[in-house]
Amino acid sequence: MEHIQIAIDGPAGAGKSTIAQMIAKQLGYTYIDTGAMYRAITLKALKQNIKLDIEDNFEFVKETSFEFIDGALYMDNIDVSKNIRTHKVSNNVSLVSSYINVREECVRIQRTIAEKGNVVMDGRDIGYIVLPDADYKFYLTASIEKRAERRYKDNCTRGIKSDLSILKEKIRTRDHLDSTREHSPLKPAEDAIMIDTSELSIKQVVDLITNQIKEVD
Ligand code: DC
Repeated sequence: MEHIQIAIDGPAGAGKSTIAQMIAKQLGYTYIDTGAMYRAITLKALKQNIKLDIEDNFEFVKETSFEFIDGALYMDNIDVSKNIRTHKVSNNVSLVSSYINVREECVRIQRTIAEKGNVVMDGRDIGYIVLPDADYKFYLTASIEKRAERRYKDNCTRGIKSDLSILKEKIRTRDHLDSTREHSPLKPAEDAIMIDTSELSIKQVVDLITNQIKEVD
C-alpha cells in the first residue's frame, strides 16, 4: 500500500516542528523530526569527546540506532529528546549535518521510516532529497526577528536560558551554514508551496496546510 508523505522544510525557527506535529496529530500520521537525528548524532559525538571537525570520526553513525516513538527520538534505545536541545548541540549541529557520510545514513533511515506508514516529516532537504515524490510539500519561512523570538520563547518553555540578540545572530549563522553547505543545502523543492509564517499564528499555518491537503484530495 502506498503511504502518504507530507514534507515540511524551512530554516530554524520558522515553526516547522510545532506545525508538523499538530498536522500529524490531526491526521493520525507519524511525525518525524529529522533535525533531531542530526542533533542526536552531534550529542553522541560530544559525549564521546571526538574531534567534530574530522568527518571520518562519524563512522559510528552506521552503528547507531534511531527510533521515533510518539514524537520522541530514541538513540541507541535512550530517549534523547531533551538532551539534544542544549546550546552546545545547537552550536555544533550545522557542522555535523554537513558531512556526507552522516547525511547518507540519516536519509536512508528517514526513507525507511516513511515506507512503513503515513508521515509528516520536517527538515531542510525533505522535499527535494529525502522524499522527492512526497504527496505534499511545504516550505515555511519567517523573518529572522520572528524566528529568534520563537526560539527564545521555546527555550523559556524548556527551561533553557538564552539571550534574544545572541539567538538572532546564531540563527543567522546557522541559516548561512545550512544554506551554503555542499551537500543538500537548505532550499525549497521546486514544487513546494511557500508559506511566510511571520505574521501568522500557528493555527493559521496549520489550517492553511490542512486546507491545501483537503483541496487536493
Ligand atoms: O530543525 P533543527 O534546528 O533541529 O535542525 C538542526 C540542524 O540539523 C540544522 O541546523 C540543520 C540540520 N538539518 C539538516 O541538515 N537536514 C535536515 N533534514 C534537518 C536538519
